[in-house]
Amino acid sequence: MNQIILNADVERGQISKHIYGHFAEHLGRCIYEGIWVGEDSPIPNVNGIRKDVLEALRQIRVPVLRWPGGCFADEYHWKDGIGPREQRKKMINTHWGGVTENNHFGTHEFFMLCELLECEPYINGNVGSGTVQEMQEWVEYMTFDGESPMANWRKDNGREKPWKMKYFGVGNESWGCGGNMRPEYYADEYRRYQTYVRNYGDNKVYKIACGPSEWDYNWMEVLMCQAGRYMDGISLHYYTLPNNWQDKGSALEFDEQEWFVTLKKTLKMDELITKHSAIMDQYDPDKRVGLIVDEWGTWYNVEPGTNPGFLYQQNTLRDALVAGINLNIFNNHNERVHMANIAQTVNVLQAMVLTEGEKMVLTPTYHVFDMYKVHQDATRLDAHLVNDTYSMGDESIPQLNVSASRDADGRIHITLCNLDHERAATVQFDIRGIGAIKGTAAKVLTAGTIQAHNTFDQPDAVKPVSFDGLKTNHNGLTCELPSKSVVSITLEV
Ligand code: AHR
Repeated sequence: MNQIILNADVERGQISKHIYGHFAEHLGRCIYEGIWVGEDSPIPNVNGIRKDVLEALRQIRVPVLRWPGGCFADEYHWKDGIGPREQRKKMINTHWGGVTENNHFGTHEFFMLCELLECEPYINGNVGSGTVQEMQEWVEYMTFDGESPMANWRKDNGREKPWKMKYFGVGNESWGCGGNMRPEYYADEYRRYQTYVRNYGDNKVYKIACGPSEWDYNWMEVLMCQAGRYMDGISLHYYTLPNNWQDKGSALEFDEQEWFVTLKKTLKMDELITKHSAIMDQYDPDKRVGLIVDEWGTWYNVEPGTNPGFLYQQNTLRDALVAGINLNIFNNHNERVHMANIAQTVNVLQAMVLTEGEKMVLTPTYHVFDMYKVHQDATRLDAHLVNDTYSMGDESIPQLNVSASRDADGRIHITLCNLDHERAATVQFDIRGIGAIKGTAAKVLTAGTIQAHNTFDQPDAVKPVSFDGLKTNHNGLTCELPSKSVVSITLEV
């Protein structure tokens, strides 16, 4: 029997809605085709942005969107992406398939997308191959309200008023595709570049330094020690690969063993955040600097027959569990994790939606974001699990994973994952600090097989349905979670 002790009167601070953030890079068919089709496309669009994708993303309340990369950010020169589209300079996207980038989606188009989504823009600047001046001028172009060369240029390009731009990343993966730097060198470069990321008028930039990959605790240590006081946030990248970087594993063809390993590796996110936070605590005990997990999610071998540089992969019930577990982990680390951005929004890695020409399908991961959106800006509640284990061979992991919050209207939300591919879980809730439960509602996302996924022909093979496994009795509340499921519960109290 699993037990959840929920101390509803013990509040643990706000869960930033930005934990539910997204990331869209100029990579494969994410921006082009996935988001941007152009005004003349037969695919229904709003000023060039496809309508179906826009509506789907609005539904899950995307709070923040990171752009233009990723590795692409450190070879992106923003001035090539403004002005009349037909006259924009082309470039080669050397990281992602070596394709020609026509720069039709640039700064103005990105801000338009954010305005349509009503989300915060998060721009990632170029340190690897860009200059300090280029970065400084981009910020001036976007945010200066007055007479200046960049502001005047923006106005000439049709945007009179500056945009609000809060989140700005100073380089991406500077230890790798962003310049192969050593942490000491990058720390100095960060200090120099960020100096010229100016606050114009009342636009206050939240500066995000490039943080470590996975277990690179030395990178975190050096950055926090040498540049911590110049940053508002520091990034962390961790992807879930069932196997290794040479042969990551298939998105669709996997067995129970690979399911287990994938979820086990997903749980590593908790350890990573805990250990990186401990280093941050030494230099920033007040937790002023946010840990920004701005790339996370599954990374498999590309679908057979697709361009290896486009990172197109399908998305199954396993991805739904990966999303549910990670989001619970982020919620539970809300004191330090101020933002997280799943990679990536459309057609790339663990995507929300997949497109093919004019067709679009929602992935299981999308549905998890929809089920979990109730946690956005809610107050985290203290929750403890007395957990059964889920074993495979000699290895064991916890069977369940949970987080809980109270929203502005006083409703309590509990999101739960049952990792076990074959065993249901009986859960006894011990909810303290509330009066009578006046009503309950719940949804479940599961399927007949672990490989279940949505296709253009069968778009609803995996989707949430109302959950009737919740029982109120003299002991309080119990529920029978199906195997391999994600469940969201709402309590009216
Ligand atoms: O998300 C795909 C790539 O993964 C990003 O461009 C890069 O930052 C990371 O290595």
